[in-house]
Amino acid sequence: MVATTTSTSEGWSSRSAFILAAVGAAVGLGNIWRFPTLAGESGGGAFVIFYIACVFLLGLPLVLSEVFIGKAGQTDAVGSIRRVAAQSKASPSWAIFGGVGALAAFLIVSFYSVVAGWVLYYAGIMGGDLVQAILAGDPFRGALAGESQDQIQQRLSDMFASPGLLLGVHFVFMGLTLYIVARGVSSGIEKAATYLMPMFFVLLVGLVLYGAIEGDIGQAAAFLFTPDWSKLTPQVMNSALGQALFSLSLGVAGLITYGSYIKEGSGLGPTSALIAVADTCVALLAGLMIFPIVFAVGLDPAAGPTLVFQTLPFAFQTMPGGALFGFLFFVLILVAAVTSSISLLEVPTAWGIGERGWSRPKSALIFGGGAFLMGIACLLGYNVWADVRPLGFWSLFADTDILDTVDGFTGKVMLPVGALLTSIFIGWKADKNLLLTTTGLSPLAFGIWRFLIAWLCPLAVAIILATGLFPSILGT
Ligand code: PHE
Repeated sequence: MVATTTSTSEGWSSRSAFILAAVGAAVGLGNIWRFPTLAGESGGGAFVIFYIACVFLLGLPLVLSEVFIGKAGQTDAVGSIRRVAAQSKASPSWAIFGGVGALAAFLIVSFYSVVAGWVLYYAGIMGGDLVQAILAGDPFRGALAGESQDQIQQRLSDMFASPGLLLGVHFVFMGLTLYIVARGVSSGIEKAATYLMPMFFVLLVGLVLYGAIEGDIGQAAAFLFTPDWSKLTPQVMNSALGQALFSLSLGVAGLITYGSYIKEGSGLGPTSALIAVADTCVALLAGLMIFPIVFAVGLDPAAGPTLVFQTLPFAFQTMPGGALFGFLFFVLILVAAVTSSISLLEVPTAWGIGERGWSRPKSALIFGGGAFLMGIACLLGYNVWADVRPLGFWSLFADTDILDTVDGFTGKVMLPVGALLTSIFIGWKADKNLLLTTTGLSPLAFGIWRFLIAWLCPLAVAIILATGLFPSILGT
Protein backbone atom coordinates (compact mmCIF):
# COMPACT_ATOMS: atom_id res chain seq x y z
CA MET A 1 0.00 0.00 0.00
CA VAL A 2 2.60 2.48 1.10
CA ALA A 3 4.69 1.92 -1.97
CA THR A 4 1.85 2.92 -4.29
CA THR A 5 1.35 6.28 -2.62
CA THR A 6 3.57 9.01 -3.94
CA SER A 7 4.40 11.99 -1.80
CA THR A 8 3.40 15.40 -3.00
CA SER A 9 6.28 17.56 -4.06
CA GLU A 10 4.39 20.73 -3.29
CA GLY A 11 4.97 22.49 -0.01
CA TRP A 12 4.78 25.67 2.05
CA SER A 13 7.80 27.91 1.83
CA SER A 14 7.94 28.43 5.60
CA ARG A 15 6.24 27.63 8.87
CA SER A 16 4.55 31.00 8.94
CA ALA A 17 3.18 30.38 5.44
CA PHE A 18 1.47 27.25 6.75
CA ILE A 19 0.10 29.13 9.76
CA LEU A 20 -1.27 31.96 7.62
CA ALA A 21 -2.89 29.54 5.20
CA ALA A 22 -4.36 27.40 7.98
CA VAL A 23 -5.68 30.41 9.87
CA GLY A 24 -7.06 31.66 6.56
CA ALA A 25 -8.84 28.34 6.10
CA ALA A 26 -10.30 28.42 9.58
CA VAL A 27 -11.36 32.06 9.58
CA GLY A 28 -14.28 32.45 7.23
CA LEU A 29 -18.00 32.91 6.94
CA GLY A 30 -18.21 30.66 9.99
CA ASN A 31 -16.56 33.32 12.15
CA ILE A 32 -18.09 36.46 10.79
CA TRP A 33 -21.51 35.40 9.64
CA ARG A 34 -22.40 32.20 11.50
CA PHE A 35 -20.82 32.76 14.91
CA PRO A 36 -22.46 36.13 15.64
CA THR A 37 -25.73 34.81 14.23
CA LEU A 38 -25.68 31.77 16.52
CA ALA A 39 -24.51 33.77 19.52
CA GLY A 40 -27.29 36.28 18.90
CA GLU A 41 -29.96 33.63 18.47
CA SER A 42 -28.77 31.60 21.44
CA GLY A 43 -28.78 34.47 23.87
CA GLY A 44 -25.08 35.40 24.09
CA GLY A 45 -22.76 34.68 27.02
CA ALA A 46 -23.55 31.08 27.93
CA PHE A 47 -23.28 30.02 24.30
CA VAL A 48 -20.00 31.88 23.88
CA ILE A 49 -18.39 30.37 26.98
CA PHE A 50 -19.51 26.86 26.10
CA TYR A 51 -18.25 27.41 22.56
CA ILE A 52 -14.79 28.39 23.82
CA ALA A 53 -14.67 25.24 25.97
CA CYS A 54 -15.54 23.15 22.89
CA VAL A 55 -12.79 24.77 20.86
CA PHE A 56 -10.05 24.00 23.35
CA LEU A 57 -11.16 20.64 24.72
CA LEU A 58 -12.38 19.07 21.48
CA GLY A 59 -11.34 21.28 18.61
CA LEU A 60 -7.68 21.76 19.44
CA PRO A 61 -6.91 18.01 19.90
CA LEU A 62 -8.60 17.39 16.54
CA VAL A 63 -6.66 20.18 14.83
CA LEU A 64 -3.43 18.62 16.03
CA SER A 65 -4.60 15.17 14.90
CA GLU A 66 -5.37 16.33 11.38
CA VAL A 67 -2.15 18.29 11.03
CA PHE A 68 -0.26 15.26 12.33
CA ILE A 69 -1.82 12.92 9.74
CA GLY A 70 -0.95 15.30 6.93
CA LYS A 71 2.59 15.91 8.11
CA ALA A 72 3.22 12.19 8.61
CA GLY A 73 1.49 11.20 5.36
CA GLN A 74 2.87 13.85 2.97
CA THR A 75 0.14 13.35 0.37
CA ASP A 76 -3.63 13.86 -0.12
CA ALA A 77 -5.92 12.99 2.80
CA VAL A 78 -6.78 9.46 1.68
CA GLY A 79 -3.18 8.58 0.91
CA SER A 80 -1.93 10.19 4.12
CA ILE A 81 -4.31 8.24 6.34
CA ARG A 82 -3.43 5.06 4.47
CA ARG A 83 0.24 5.70 5.08
CA VAL A 84 -0.19 6.44 8.80
CA ALA A 85 -2.40 3.33 9.08
CA ALA A 86 0.30 1.19 7.41
CA GLN A 87 2.98 2.54 9.73
CA SER A 88 0.69 1.86 12.67
CA LYS A 89 -0.28 -1.64 11.43
CA ALA A 90 -3.92 -0.59 11.23
CA SER A 91 -6.35 -1.44 8.45
CA PRO A 92 -6.03 0.61 5.24
CA SER A 93 -9.83 0.98 5.30
CA TRP A 94 -9.34 3.87 7.72
CA ALA A 95 -8.56 5.89 4.62
CA ILE A 96 -12.29 6.00 3.97
CA PHE A 97 -12.69 8.92 6.35
CA GLY A 98 -10.35 10.92 4.16
CA GLY A 99 -12.70 10.22 1.27
CA VAL A 100 -15.74 11.21 3.32
CA GLY A 101 -13.93 14.41 4.26
CA ALA A 102 -13.07 15.22 0.66
CA LEU A 103 -16.69 14.68 -0.34
CA ALA A 104 -17.87 16.91 2.51
CA ALA A 105 -15.42 19.63 1.48
CA PHE A 106 -16.72 19.42 -2.09
CA LEU A 107 -20.33 19.75 -0.91
CA ILE A 108 -19.53 22.60 1.47
CA VAL A 109 -17.67 24.64 -1.12
CA SER A 110 -20.68 24.39 -3.44
CA PHE A 111 -22.94 26.36 -1.08
CA TYR A 112 -20.13 28.34 0.53
CA SER A 113 -19.51 29.97 -2.83
CA VAL A 114 -23.20 30.83 -3.16
CA VAL A 115 -23.24 32.60 0.23
CA ALA A 116 -19.93 34.30 -0.54
CA GLY A 117 -21.61 35.46 -3.76
CA TRP A 118 -24.22 37.30 -1.67
CA VAL A 119 -21.40 38.98 0.18
CA LEU A 120 -19.82 39.94 -3.12
CA TYR A 121 -23.10 41.47 -4.26
CA TYR A 122 -23.40 43.45 -1.03
CA ALA A 123 -19.82 44.62 -1.32
CA GLY A 124 -20.83 45.88 -4.78
CA ILE A 125 -23.91 47.68 -3.45
CA MET A 126 -21.99 49.31 -0.63
CA GLY A 127 -19.05 50.10 -2.92
CA GLY A 128 -21.38 51.83 -5.38
CA ASP A 129 -22.96 53.74 -2.55
CA LEU A 130 -19.55 54.85 -1.29
CA VAL A 131 -18.61 56.11 -4.74
CA GLN A 132 -21.82 58.15 -4.81
CA ALA A 133 -21.07 59.55 -1.37
CA ILE A 134 -17.59 60.57 -2.52
CA LEU A 135 -18.94 62.15 -5.71
CA ALA A 136 -21.48 64.04 -3.66
CA GLY A 137 -18.61 65.45 -1.59
CA ASP A 138 -19.76 63.68 1.57
CA PRO A 139 -17.59 60.56 1.91
CA PHE A 140 -18.33 60.17 5.62
CA ARG A 141 -22.10 60.03 5.38
CA GLY A 142 -24.12 57.01 6.46
CA ALA A 143 -24.70 54.13 4.06
CA LEU A 144 -27.53 53.94 1.54
CA ALA A 145 -28.72 57.47 2.25
CA GLY A 146 -32.40 58.05 1.73
CA GLU A 147 -33.45 54.41 1.75
CA SER A 148 -36.07 53.29 4.24
CA GLN A 149 -35.53 50.21 6.40
CA ASP A 150 -38.09 48.38 4.26
CA GLN A 151 -36.23 49.27 1.10
CA ILE A 152 -32.96 48.03 2.56
CA GLN A 153 -34.60 44.76 3.58
CA GLN A 154 -36.22 44.47 0.19
CA ARG A 155 -32.78 44.39 -1.43
CA LEU A 156 -32.15 40.96 0.06
CA SER A 157 -35.50 39.57 -1.09
CA ASP A 158 -34.90 41.01 -4.55
CA MET A 159 -31.49 39.37 -4.70
CA PHE A 160 -32.95 35.97 -3.73
CA ALA A 161 -35.65 36.36 -6.35
CA SER A 162 -33.10 36.79 -9.13
CA PRO A 163 -31.46 33.52 -10.24
CA GLY A 164 -29.37 35.36 -12.83
CA LEU A 165 -27.82 37.66 -10.27
CA LEU A 166 -27.16 34.83 -7.81
CA LEU A 167 -25.62 32.77 -10.59
CA GLY A 168 -23.38 35.62 -11.68
CA VAL A 169 -21.89 36.29 -8.26
CA HIS A 170 -21.53 32.56 -7.54
CA PHE A 171 -19.69 32.18 -10.86
CA VAL A 172 -17.27 35.00 -10.07
CA PHE A 173 -16.51 33.71 -6.59
CA MET A 174 -16.06 30.09 -7.63
CA GLY A 175 -13.96 31.19 -10.60
CA LEU A 176 -11.62 33.07 -8.29
CA THR A 177 -11.37 30.09 -5.93
CA LEU A 178 -10.64 27.74 -8.81
CA TYR A 179 -8.02 30.05 -10.25
CA ILE A 180 -6.09 30.27 -6.98
CA VAL A 181 -6.24 26.51 -6.35
CA ALA A 182 -5.21 25.69 -9.92
CA ARG A 183 -2.08 27.81 -9.49
CA GLY A 184 -0.80 25.49 -6.80
CA VAL A 185 0.23 25.49 -3.18
CA SER A 186 2.99 28.06 -3.15
CA SER A 187 2.08 30.32 -6.05
CA GLY A 188 -1.68 30.11 -5.46
CA ILE A 189 -2.82 29.26 -1.95
CA GLU A 190 0.18 30.54 -0.04
CA LYS A 191 0.38 33.73 -2.03
CA ALA A 192 -3.31 34.45 -1.55
CA ALA A 193 -2.98 33.90 2.21
CA THR A 194 0.13 36.07 2.45
CA TYR A 195 -1.64 39.00 0.82
CA LEU A 196 -5.13 38.54 2.14
CA MET A 197 -4.63 37.62 5.78
CA PRO A 198 -2.73 40.78 6.80
CA MET A 199 -5.36 42.80 4.95
CA PHE A 200 -8.03 40.88 6.82
CA PHE A 201 -6.52 41.67 10.23
CA VAL A 202 -6.11 45.35 9.46
CA LEU A 203 -9.74 45.58 8.35
CA LEU A 204 -10.92 43.63 11.38
CA VAL A 205 -9.10 45.82 13.87
CA GLY A 206 -10.28 48.94 12.06
CA LEU A 207 -13.89 47.83 12.15
CA VAL A 208 -13.74 46.78 15.80
CA LEU A 209 -12.37 50.22 16.67
CA TYR A 210 -15.07 51.85 14.60
CA GLY A 211 -17.73 49.84 16.45
CA ALA A 212 -16.13 50.74 19.78
CA ILE A 213 -16.12 54.44 18.97
CA GLU A 214 -19.43 54.80 17.21
CA GLY A 215 -21.36 51.91 18.74
CA ASP A 216 -22.24 50.55 22.15
CA ILE A 217 -19.36 48.24 22.96
CA GLY A 218 -20.25 47.99 26.65
CA GLN A 219 -23.62 46.48 25.91
CA ALA A 220 -22.09 44.21 23.29
CA ALA A 221 -19.44 42.92 25.69
CA ALA A 222 -22.06 42.34 28.37
CA PHE A 223 -24.20 40.47 25.87
CA LEU A 224 -21.32 38.31 24.66
CA PHE A 225 -19.67 37.55 27.97
CA THR A 226 -22.31 37.57 30.71
CA PRO A 227 -23.61 34.04 30.91
CA ASP A 228 -27.24 33.29 31.62
CA TRP A 229 -26.84 29.57 32.15
CA SER A 230 -30.55 28.93 31.83
CA LYS A 231 -30.09 29.63 28.13
CA LEU A 232 -27.63 26.77 27.77
CA THR A 233 -30.13 24.19 26.54
CA PRO A 234 -29.00 20.89 24.99
CA GLN A 235 -29.82 22.35 21.56
CA VAL A 236 -27.61 25.33 22.22
CA MET A 237 -24.75 23.06 23.34
CA ASN A 238 -25.26 20.99 20.25
CA SER A 239 -25.01 23.97 17.95
CA ALA A 240 -21.96 25.29 19.83
CA LEU A 241 -20.17 21.99 19.31
CA GLY A 242 -21.12 21.85 15.64
CA GLN A 243 -20.00 25.44 15.16
CA ALA A 244 -16.63 24.70 16.78
CA LEU A 245 -16.02 21.89 14.27
CA PHE A 246 -17.13 24.01 11.32
CA SER A 247 -15.18 27.06 12.34
CA LEU A 248 -11.93 25.16 12.86
CA SER A 249 -12.48 23.46 9.47
CA LEU A 250 -12.50 20.04 11.12
CA GLY A 251 -13.88 16.79 9.80
CA VAL A 252 -13.36 17.61 6.12
CA ALA A 253 -9.68 16.61 5.98
CA GLY A 254 -8.77 20.21 5.23
CA LEU A 255 -6.03 20.36 7.82
CA ILE A 256 -4.76 16.93 6.77
CA THR A 257 -4.36 18.30 3.28
CA TYR A 258 -2.69 21.54 4.41
CA GLY A 259 -0.57 19.59 6.92
CA SER A 260 0.78 17.41 4.11
CA TYR A 261 2.50 20.46 2.64
CA ILE A 262 4.61 20.92 5.79
CA LYS A 263 7.98 19.69 4.71
CA GLU A 264 10.10 19.83 7.80
CA GLY A 265 10.27 20.93 11.40
CA SER A 266 8.17 19.73 14.27
CA GLY A 267 6.44 21.78 16.91
CA LEU A 268 2.98 20.87 15.65
CA GLY A 269 1.51 21.51 19.12
CA PRO A 270 2.13 25.27 19.33
CA THR A 271 1.21 25.64 15.67
CA SER A 272 -2.14 23.94 16.21
CA ALA A 273 -2.79 26.00 19.32
CA LEU A 274 -2.10 29.15 17.37
CA ILE A 275 -4.66 28.16 14.73
CA ALA A 276 -7.33 27.48 17.37
CA VAL A 277 -6.59 30.66 19.32
CA ALA A 278 -6.55 32.85 16.22
CA ASP A 279 -9.81 31.42 14.92
CA THR A 280 -11.51 31.95 18.27
CA CYS A 281 -10.18 35.48 18.67
CA VAL A 282 -11.51 36.36 15.24
CA ALA A 283 -14.95 34.97 16.08
CA LEU A 284 -15.03 36.99 19.31
CA LEU A 285 -13.75 40.11 17.59
CA ALA A 286 -16.41 39.65 14.92
CA GLY A 287 -18.96 39.66 17.74
CA LEU A 288 -17.33 42.75 19.23
CA MET A 289 -17.47 44.38 15.81
CA ILE A 290 -21.07 43.55 14.94
CA PHE A 291 -23.01 43.82 18.21
CA PRO A 292 -21.90 47.35 19.23
CA ILE A 293 -23.29 48.52 15.90
CA VAL A 294 -26.49 46.49 16.29
CA PHE A 295 -27.07 47.78 19.83
CA ALA A 296 -26.15 51.36 19.03
CA VAL A 297 -29.17 51.64 16.79
CA GLY A 298 -31.42 49.53 18.99
CA LEU A 299 -31.73 46.58 16.62
CA ASP A 300 -32.38 42.94 17.48
CA PRO A 301 -29.24 40.79 18.02
CA ALA A 302 -31.32 37.66 17.42
CA ALA A 303 -32.21 38.51 13.83
CA GLY A 304 -30.71 35.22 12.59
CA PRO A 305 -29.03 34.71 9.22
CA THR A 306 -30.25 38.08 7.94
CA LEU A 307 -28.27 39.92 10.65
CA VAL A 308 -25.42 40.67 8.29
CA PHE A 309 -27.48 41.40 5.19
CA GLN A 310 -30.42 43.36 6.58
CA THR A 311 -29.75 44.49 10.13
CA LEU A 312 -26.22 45.77 9.58
CA PRO A 313 -26.72 47.72 6.34
CA PHE A 314 -29.53 49.54 8.09
CA ALA A 315 -27.32 50.17 11.12
CA PHE A 316 -24.58 51.55 8.87
CA GLN A 317 -27.11 53.99 7.46
CA THR A 318 -27.55 55.74 10.75
CA MET A 319 -23.87 55.92 11.64
CA PRO A 320 -21.31 58.53 10.60
CA GLY A 321 -18.87 57.01 8.16
CA GLY A 322 -21.36 54.19 7.58
CA ALA A 323 -20.94 54.24 3.80
CA LEU A 324 -17.20 53.70 4.09
CA PHE A 325 -17.22 51.22 6.97
CA GLY A 326 -20.19 49.33 5.57
CA PHE A 327 -18.24 48.76 2.38
CA LEU A 328 -15.12 47.71 4.31
CA PHE A 329 -17.23 45.32 6.36
CA PHE A 330 -18.34 43.36 3.30
CA VAL A 331 -14.82 43.40 1.87
CA LEU A 332 -13.65 41.90 5.15
CA ILE A 333 -16.12 39.02 4.94
CA LEU A 334 -15.21 38.46 1.31
CA VAL A 335 -11.50 38.22 2.09
CA ALA A 336 -12.20 35.72 4.88
CA ALA A 337 -14.41 33.68 2.57
CA VAL A 338 -11.81 33.40 -0.21
CA THR A 339 -9.07 31.96 2.01
CA SER A 340 -11.57 29.39 3.35
CA SER A 341 -13.09 28.39 0.04
CA ILE A 342 -9.65 27.70 -1.45
CA SER A 343 -8.94 25.33 1.44
CA LEU A 344 -12.22 23.55 0.80
CA LEU A 345 -11.59 23.12 -2.91
CA GLU A 346 -8.02 22.04 -2.23
CA VAL A 347 -9.14 18.87 -0.41
CA PRO A 348 -10.83 17.11 -3.37
CA THR A 349 -8.29 18.66 -5.75
CA ALA A 350 -5.41 17.08 -3.82
CA TRP A 351 -7.31 13.80 -3.86
CA GLY A 352 -7.58 13.92 -7.66
CA ILE A 353 -3.87 14.63 -7.94
CA GLY A 354 -2.73 12.03 -5.39
CA GLU A 355 -5.18 9.21 -6.00
CA ARG A 356 -6.10 9.65 -9.64
CA GLY A 357 -2.88 11.07 -10.99
CA TRP A 358 -4.61 14.09 -12.57
CA SER A 359 -2.74 17.31 -13.15
CA ARG A 360 -3.56 20.08 -10.66
CA PRO A 361 -5.43 22.30 -13.13
CA LYS A 362 -7.48 19.33 -14.35
CA SER A 363 -8.37 18.24 -10.83
CA ALA A 364 -9.23 21.78 -9.72
CA LEU A 365 -11.38 22.25 -12.79
CA ILE A 366 -13.28 18.99 -12.29
CA PHE A 367 -14.08 19.65 -8.63
CA GLY A 368 -14.46 23.42 -8.92
CA GLY A 369 -16.72 22.97 -11.95
CA GLY A 370 -18.70 20.24 -10.20
CA ALA A 371 -19.14 22.37 -7.09
CA PHE A 372 -20.22 25.28 -9.27
CA LEU A 373 -22.99 23.11 -10.75
CA MET A 374 -24.06 21.88 -7.30
CA GLY A 375 -24.15 25.48 -6.16
CA ILE A 376 -26.58 26.33 -8.96
CA ALA A 377 -29.05 23.89 -7.45
CA CYS A 378 -28.57 25.61 -4.08
CA LEU A 379 -29.23 29.08 -5.43
CA LEU A 380 -32.26 27.98 -7.44
CA GLY A 381 -33.67 26.81 -4.12
CA TYR A 382 -34.28 30.47 -3.32
CA ASN A 383 -36.51 31.04 -6.31
CA VAL A 384 -37.54 28.58 -9.03
CA TRP A 385 -36.96 25.51 -6.87
CA ALA A 386 -38.17 27.10 -3.66
CA ASP A 387 -40.47 24.15 -2.99
CA VAL A 388 -37.85 21.46 -3.47
CA ARG A 389 -36.97 19.56 -0.28
CA PRO A 390 -34.10 17.21 -1.27
CA LEU A 391 -34.25 15.17 1.95
CA GLY A 392 -37.92 15.85 2.59
CA PHE A 393 -38.52 12.20 3.54
CA TRP A 394 -36.28 12.67 6.61
CA SER A 395 -38.09 14.49 9.39
CA LEU A 396 -34.93 16.42 10.28
CA PHE A 397 -34.83 18.00 6.82
CA ALA A 398 -38.53 17.85 6.07
CA ASP A 399 -38.89 21.58 5.59
CA THR A 400 -35.36 22.47 4.53
CA ASP A 401 -34.52 24.09 1.20
CA ILE A 402 -31.66 22.91 -1.01
CA LEU A 403 -28.84 25.07 0.37
CA ASP A 404 -29.79 24.49 3.99
CA THR A 405 -30.07 20.76 3.32
CA VAL A 406 -26.52 20.58 1.98
CA ASP A 407 -25.36 22.77 4.87
CA GLY A 408 -27.31 20.74 7.45
CA PHE A 409 -26.32 17.33 6.10
CA THR A 410 -22.62 18.18 5.94
CA GLY A 411 -22.64 20.00 9.30
CA LYS A 412 -24.80 17.60 11.26
CA VAL A 413 -23.73 14.31 9.68
CA MET A 414 -20.52 14.44 7.68
CA LEU A 415 -18.34 16.72 9.83
CA PRO A 416 -19.13 14.90 13.10
CA VAL A 417 -18.58 11.52 11.40
CA GLY A 418 -15.23 12.75 10.07
CA ALA A 419 -14.25 14.12 13.49
CA LEU A 420 -15.38 10.94 15.26
CA LEU A 421 -13.35 8.69 12.97
CA THR A 422 -10.33 10.98 13.24
CA SER A 423 -10.42 10.86 17.03
CA ILE A 424 -10.80 7.06 17.17
CA PHE A 425 -8.04 6.59 14.63
CA ILE A 426 -5.59 8.87 16.44
CA GLY A 427 -6.70 7.92 19.96
CA TRP A 428 -6.71 4.16 19.48
CA LYS A 429 -4.99 3.09 16.28
CA ALA A 430 -2.09 5.37 15.42
CA ASP A 431 1.38 4.30 16.47
CA LYS A 432 2.51 6.06 19.63
CA ASN A 433 6.08 6.61 18.53
CA LEU A 434 5.02 8.02 15.22
CA LEU A 435 2.69 10.41 17.05
CA LEU A 436 5.41 11.49 19.43
CA THR A 437 8.16 12.02 16.91
CA THR A 438 5.98 13.74 14.32
CA THR A 439 4.26 16.14 16.70
CA GLY A 440 7.28 16.89 18.90
CA LEU A 441 5.03 17.24 21.97
CA SER A 442 6.38 17.18 25.53
CA PRO A 443 5.34 14.10 27.56
CA LEU A 444 2.80 16.14 29.55
CA ALA A 445 1.21 17.74 26.50
CA PHE A 446 1.22 14.36 24.79
CA GLY A 447 -0.59 12.74 27.72
CA ILE A 448 -3.27 15.43 27.77
CA TRP A 449 -3.72 15.23 24.01
CA ARG A 450 -4.04 11.43 24.06
CA PHE A 451 -6.59 11.57 26.85
CA LEU A 452 -8.73 14.18 25.11
CA ILE A 453 -8.53 12.58 21.70
CA ALA A 454 -9.09 9.02 22.89
CA TRP A 455 -11.87 9.65 25.39
CA LEU A 456 -13.45 13.09 25.43
CA CYS A 457 -13.58 13.74 21.68
CA PRO A 458 -15.19 10.47 20.60
CA LEU A 459 -17.74 10.67 23.39
CA ALA A 460 -18.64 14.30 22.89
CA VAL A 461 -18.70 14.06 19.11
CA ALA A 462 -20.84 10.91 19.26
CA ILE A 463 -23.28 12.87 21.39
CA ILE A 464 -23.38 15.75 18.89
CA LEU A 465 -23.96 13.30 16.11
CA ALA A 466 -26.72 11.44 17.92
CA THR A 467 -28.52 14.52 19.19
CA GLY A 468 -28.08 16.29 15.85
CA LEU A 469 -29.64 13.38 13.99
CA PHE A 470 -32.29 12.48 16.52
CA PRO A 471 -33.34 15.72 18.23
CA SER A 472 -36.06 13.73 20.02
CA ILE A 473 -33.33 12.45 22.36
CA LEU A 474 -33.25 15.97 23.73
CA GLY A 475 -36.98 15.92 24.20
CA THR A 476 -37.85 18.36 21.42
N1 PHE B 1 -13.84 27.21 8.80
C1 PHE B 1 -14.46 27.85 7.69
C2 PHE B 1 -15.30 29.00 8.21
O1 PHE B 1 -15.31 29.25 9.38
C3 PHE B 1 -15.33 26.93 6.90
C4 PHE B 1 -14.62 25.70 6.50
C5 PHE B 1 -15.07 24.48 6.90
C6 PHE B 1 -13.46 25.80 5.74
C7 PHE B 1 -14.39 23.35 6.57
C8 PHE B 1 -12.75 24.67 5.39
C9 PHE B 1 -13.20 23.45 5.83
O2 PHE B 1 -15.94 29.66 7.45
